[in-house]
Amino acid sequence: MKKYIFTLLIIAFISSSCNKANISSEDKRLDQRVDSVMKLMTLDEKIGQMVLYTSDWDVTGPTLKSGYLDDIRKGNCGNIFNAHTAAYTRKLQKIAVEESRLGIPLLFGYDVIHGHKTIFPISLGESASWDLAAIEKSARVSAIEAAASGINWTFAPMCDVSVEPRWGRVSEGAGEDPYLGSRIAEARVKGFQGENNDLSDPLTILACVKHFAAYGAPLAGRDYNTVDMSERVFLDTYLPPYKAAIDAGAMSVMSSFNELDGIPATGSKYLLTDILRKKLGFKGFVVTDYTSINEMVNHGIVANESEAGALALNAGVDMDMQGEVYFKYLKKSIEDGLVDEKLVDDAVRRILRVKFMLGLFDDPYKYCNEEREKQLVYAPEHLEAELDVAKKSMVLLKNDNHSLPLKKGEKIAVIGELAASTRDLLGSWKAAGDWDFMKSTLDEIKLYNGEKNVIYAEGCKKMGEDRSGFAAAIAAARRADKIVMVIGEDWEWSGEAASRTSINVPGVQTELLEKLKALNKPVVVVLMNGRPLDLSKESTLADAILEAWYPGTMGGKAITQVLFGDYNPSGKLTMTFPRTLGQVPIFYYEKNTGRPIYLENPKYKSRYIDCPNDPLYPFGFGLSYTTFAYSDIKLSSNELTSDGEIEASVNVTNTGGVNGEEVVQCYVRDLVGSVTRPVKELKGFEKISLKAGQSKVITFKISPEMLAFYRADMTYGSEPGDFKLFIGGNSRDVKETEFKLK
Ligand code: BGC
Repeated sequence: MKKYIFTLLIIAFISSSCNKANISSEDKRLDQRVDSVMKLMTLDEKIGQMVLYTSDWDVTGPTLKSGYLDDIRKGNCGNIFNAHTAAYTRKLQKIAVEESRLGIPLLFGYDVIHGHKTIFPISLGESASWDLAAIEKSARVSAIEAAASGINWTFAPMCDVSVEPRWGRVSEGAGEDPYLGSRIAEARVKGFQGENNDLSDPLTILACVKHFAAYGAPLAGRDYNTVDMSERVFLDTYLPPYKAAIDAGAMSVMSSFNELDGIPATGSKYLLTDILRKKLGFKGFVVTDYTSINEMVNHGIVANESEAGALALNAGVDMDMQGEVYFKYLKKSIEDGLVDEKLVDDAVRRILRVKFMLGLFDDPYKYCNEEREKQLVYAPEHLEAELDVAKKSMVLLKNDNHSLPLKKGEKIAVIGELAASTRDLLGSWKAAGDWDFMKSTLDEIKLYNGEKNVIYAEGCKKMGEDRSGFAAAIAAARRADKIVMVIGEDWEWSGEAASRTSINVPGVQTELLEKLKALNKPVVVVLMNGRPLDLSKESTLADAILEAWYPGTMGGKAITQVLFGDYNPSGKLTMTFPRTLGQVPIFYYEKNTGRPIYLENPKYKSRYIDCPNDPLYPFGFGLSYTTFAYSDIKLSSNELTSDGEIEASVNVTNTGGVNGEEVVQCYVRDLVGSVTRPVKELKGFEKISLKAGQSKVITFKISPEMLAFYRADMTYGSEPGDFKLFIGGNSRDVKETEFKLK
C-alpha cells in the first residue's frame, strides 16, 4: 500500500502545476497523471470512485446509508456529501488517504446554495438584486467559508429556469428569464470557482450545474413531476443558463430527477451525451441527483436497479449519488456485457481529473485546517457582504403616500410571528448556518428605533387558524403611528419538496392585516417568502409592500435599514407575480397568439372573462424611494447589418428627492420569424446609481448574435426583418422604437 501512496504523491507533485480549469495546453499532462493512477486501480476501486454517499451530518434526501466509513476504507466510496467542518472532513479524508489501498482522496460535496455559515438571501431573492458583482461576491464568500470547513464541492448553481410558482424550488434559482439566468449562473460559477477558475486555490470550490435538465418545469408545479416541452422551448429557454454555467468553467453537472420527453434525465443519452458533452462541450463529470438512478425503476423505464445502472452509465452518468446502484450492479453488468468497461474508465478518468485539478493529490487535507476555519467562518467582511446583497435583493412593490421610509422615532407597531423569527430569515438550504446568535427583524427595529418606540404583538402565527392574538395586535397597533406587519411563508414552505396548490399568504395573516387596515393608519407589509405569491388582497390592504424574501444571516438588519431609508430599495422581480394562481404559468416572454387582447372587441380573444391577462407585478418591476424618468430611445442606426452592431441609448434621470439605483432593462421583439417569437425578450440590463436630479445616458449594443434563436429548421441563428426594441425600468413600462436586421 505504501508503494502506491508514494506513487500517488509523485504523480501529485508533477501535476501540482497543472490545476487550472480550462487550460488546454496542460490538459494532456493532466490526462497522463490520471492515466498513471488508473493503471493502479482494480475494477472495484474504479467503481468506488463513482460512488457518492451522504454522511449522517445532514439529511437532504429520503434514505441514509450506514457504514460509509468502512466503504471509504475499502475503496468502495470515493466521495462524501453532507459532511462538514475541518475536523470531521479531516477524519474522513484520513481514512481515505491512509487506510484505503490506493489512498485516493475524497471529494466533499455539500449544498452550499446561498451560503455555508454566513447565509445570503435565497437565490431567487438574490437574483432580484440584478447585481452581478454582488451575486458573485456572495458565491465567493460562500466558497471561502465552505472551503475553510472541509468542503471542496458545492451542489450549485441551480440553473433551472422556471415559470411555476407552485414549485417550491423556484426559491433556489434565478427566476423565469433565460438571459438574466445565464448571467447570474456565470456570476455564481465565478464566485465558487474563483475569478481565474483556479480550482487548486484552497479558497475555491468546484461548482455543480444543476438540475440537468429542465427540472424547473414540473407539470402542475409538483416537485419531481413529469416535464414535457418542445425541443425548441427546451433549447431556447431552458438550456441557456446551464450552458452559461458550463461555459464559465463549471466542472460538474447534476442530472435531474425528472423525465423529459418520456426519458428520465438520469438515463437520457440525448441530454447527458448529445447535448451536454457533444453540443455544450462539457469536460467535467456528471453526478446524479439523490438516488435518481434507482428512481428510474419507478419511472417505468427499466425493470430493476441493475438495468437502471446500465442505462445511467450508457447515458453518461459518472457518479451515483447515494443510490448504491453502481456499487451493487456495475461490475456484474460489465461481466454480463450490458455495459462496456471503457465507460467506467471514462467516468473514473473524469472524476480523478477533477480531483487533480482541485489539488487533492497534492494535499488531501488542504480544506481541513481548523485555524483557517475559525478565522474565515462568519468573518466580519462576510457578514458585511451578506448585509449588502440582502438590501439589494429587496423589492419595493408598493409605496402609497410615501408610507416608507419610516422615520426614526415614530411609534411603530410590529406585528407577526415572522417579525420575531430568526430561523425563517435563512430560508431553505441553510447549509451549516446557525440562527441562535442572529437578530430577528423585531430585534433590529428595536435597536434602530429605540425599544420604547416599538410595540410588538405576534397577532397570529405564519400558519393555522388561531385568531386569539388578534385583539392584542389591534391594541398594539392602536398605540402606534405606523404598523409594520411581517407576513409570508414558513421557511420550509419553499425549497425542495415544498410545492403548493395555492400561492396565497397562508393562515389568517391576511385576515389580521385586514383588521389592522381598518384602524386607518399607514400599514407596511414586509414579505418573507420563497416564491411569487398571489398578493391581490394584500396589495389593496397595505399602503406599502416590501418583498424581503428570506434575506439571510443579516436579514433583520437589512430589512430595518431599508424600512428606515438607510438604503433605498433597488431590487426588481425576476419572476412575474400573478393576480391569481389561475393565470399561472404567466411570464413576460409569452407569444402574441392569433387573438391578442389589444385588438378591438374583447369577445373571442385570448383572455380570461374573470380577470385581466396582465400580472399584478410584472417581471423586472420594483419601486424606489425616488423616481426615474426615461427619455425616448436613440438608435445609432435603424438598420443592423448581419456583421454589424447598433447602439440604443436612453437618458435616465433621477426625478425624485433622494439618491437611488435603477435597473435599466433592454428588450427586443422579432416581429416576423420562421417560428413565432416572444412579445419581449430581455437582451441586456445595467444597474445604475443616480444622485437626486442626476441624469445618465445608458447605451446597449445590439448585434445579430443577440437575436439568434432555433429557427424552423432547428438551426440556430437570427433572421433578417423588423424588430422592436424596448428600454425601461421593468418589462411593462418601456420606451419603444424599431430597427431592421438586414
Ligand atoms: C436535491 C439536490 C441536492 C441533493 C443533495 C437532492 O434531493 O434535489 O438539489 O443537491 O439532494 O443534497
